[in-house]
Amino acid sequence: MPWHTLSRNSPDDPHAAFALDVLTGLSERPKQLSSKWFYDDTGSVLFQKIMDLEEYYPTDSEREIFERYGEDIAGRFSGQQLDVVDLGAGDGAKTSILLDHLKKAGVDLRYVPVDISEGAMASLEDRMKQAHPGLEVQGVVGEYVPALRWLSTNSDRPRLVLFLGSNIGNFDKPRARAFLRRIWSGLRPGDHTLVGFDMKKDIEVLLAAYNDKEGITRDFNLNLLERINRELGGEFDLQNWRHFGTYNVFSGAMESYLVSTKAQEVKIAALRQSFSFEAWEPIHTEYSYKYLPEDIESLARFTGFELCAQYSDRRDWFIDSLWRVS
Ligand code: AVJ
Repeated sequence: MPWHTLSRNSPDDPHAAFALDVLTGLSERPKQLSSKWFYDDTGSVLFQKIMDLEEYYPTDSEREIFERYGEDIAGRFSGQQLDVVDLGAGDGAKTSILLDHLKKAGVDLRYVPVDISEGAMASLEDRMKQAHPGLEVQGVVGEYVPALRWLSTNSDRPRLVLFLGSNIGNFDKPRARAFLRRIWSGLRPGDHTLVGFDMKKDIEVLLAAYNDKEGITRDFNLNLLERINRELGGEFDLQNWRHFGTYNVFSGAMESYLVSTKAQEVKIAALRQSFSFEAWEPIHTEYSYKYLPEDIESLARFTGFELCAQYSDRRDWFIDSLWRVS
């Protein structure tokens, strides 16, 4: 395999971490499951379809930003060596635009995509090597934190850490601070990070983006139950569940839920247990936090970074913020 796969806590049972999270999440009140489990191979393909949706603006906004400002961003690294570390790289389509600009600026590049899905990594490596002949690609399959740890011992070149597409939005505000601080502590003076933030905007626009007409976002959410069925011998009947996406104006987060439409017991073989759900009981599955410009500035300051530049699309719906370790 051309990429590194970082082993989880229990290498002899690759499903242990997932199983433990499902067990604890469904035992909690209210019930919850972490959005990181969305991204198995099926979920990664569904998310790619989400990015192509008319209603899902963040991808278009960020693409516009890289088309408008890619040259400016790249110019800051011209003639240097650079490891571009792409956290949650996915299909790498937006990163590809940035890589073109970096090549034009004469940057001596190495591309280090990090993704939790092996399937996504395999097609990403193929695509990137085709689009950028001669590009050095060193993929890492794993979660963010182990990947960052691996990196800090396997590279001594200047780094640009990309955390694009509003991936940061999955963390609540305290976790976002803790995570960015963690990135900061793994970097050296002069290293950079480029973080994509989805901005607060018209609520109708938000609601439409997470409740698309084709129902792809619904399938993406329901895939979590299907994954439990596939990997843990769960017996969720998808007929009895519905997707609900709503915006909490006060916390500033899009929130996704799976709601049980009737009272039911669901067996999960690998957990040797059944879980009961009341009619209309929710499982919380995702946060997607939205930001104000001042939130970004205070986040940079709090986490120890120096803010270099902010890039936004014409509608001001999205900001890519470039920070530097001073
Ligand atoms: C991949 C976390 C950026 O929060 O917008 C899209 C995931 N969930 N539609 C987001 C997602 C439902 C997405 N991120």
